[in-house]
Amino acid sequence: MIRLAVRVDRADAELVLAELLELAPSGVEERQLSETTVEYAVYGASGELPALPDLQAAAGGSLVEIVTETVADDWDQRWKAFHKPITLDAGGRRMRVRPPWEEANDDASLLDLVIDPGQAFGTGAHATTRLCLELLLGVDPDGGCIDLGCGSGVLAIAAAKLGWAPVAGFDHEAESVEATLGNAAANSVAVSAERFDLRGGGPVPSAELVLANLLRPILLDLCDAGFGGPPPRLLILSGLLTGEADEVATRFVEAHGLTEIERRSSGEWSALLLGPGL
Ligand SMILES: C[S@@+](CC[C@H](N)C(=O)[O-])C[C@H]1O[C@@H](n2cnc3c(N)ncnc32)[C@H](O)[C@@H]1O
Repeated sequence: MIRLAVRVDRADAELVLAELLELAPSGVEERQLSETTVEYAVYGASGELPALPDLQAAAGGSLVEIVTETVADDWDQRWKAFHKPITLDAGGRRMRVRPPWEEANDDASLLDLVIDPGQAFGTGAHATTRLCLELLLGVDPDGGCIDLGCGSGVLAIAAAKLGWAPVAGFDHEAESVEATLGNAAANSVAVSAERFDLRGGGPVPSAELVLANLLRPILLDLCDAGFGGPPPRLLILSGLLTGEADEVATRFVEAHGLTEIERRSSGEWSALLLGPGL
């Protein structure tokens, strides 16, 4: 098994991480090597790892070096060691997202979500996912929910657990559809999932609540493509760097008659809750 590490300038680390997560959607291991350098690592067999030119392109001018090493057979234990449960507390509700190898917590006030990301993005630990979950905890369930770019299904499954129904996830990756259906079954909730390319040119599926943790360019495409059917009453958007949030909020507000209800940020990332116009 190989450990492939990309070392980058700390100043641009969040930007590089966004690019790397496109290449390694199930997540990367992060280490602060020094005041100025951050290391992001992925594990896998040689044919399964991102190609070096793609990694170099993702890191761009921030690249310090790329280091590969062969790791012992306990690599999967190390992988598991950094997928820890996360607890969220927002809007008067609490939720714990855990991988399957961690025991459920017996605290009845904590909504338990078990998520195995498999090959898909979405352990729950990434700041953009956490921010979406926090915004989701703060809204009262009322109707159907669509998760655009569902990855592991973590947001869709959280919505279903909170009482939104029906819930459907869409993603262009077959692995994401598979992970979402598997995780929905593991959590005993009804969530459908199907392949859908958000950049296919046509309107995208809609519901009372639409969740979209994507990157800025895809969100702007989605804004232009519009929604098939009535526009969502509530829209949770993330995958945005903080400096991109104003632009994306303004575009959705102007195009779809929504208002910005709440904005949350963590590190370099932001998430938006948009709702009915005034
Ligand atoms: C940042 S991940 C979000 C995953 C999960 N919703 C979460 O919040 O953790 C973005 C997801 O969007 C999907 N995606 C990216 N481009 C897409 C496209 N053009 N059409 C459909 N899905 C796309 C990716 O496969 C990935 O699963």
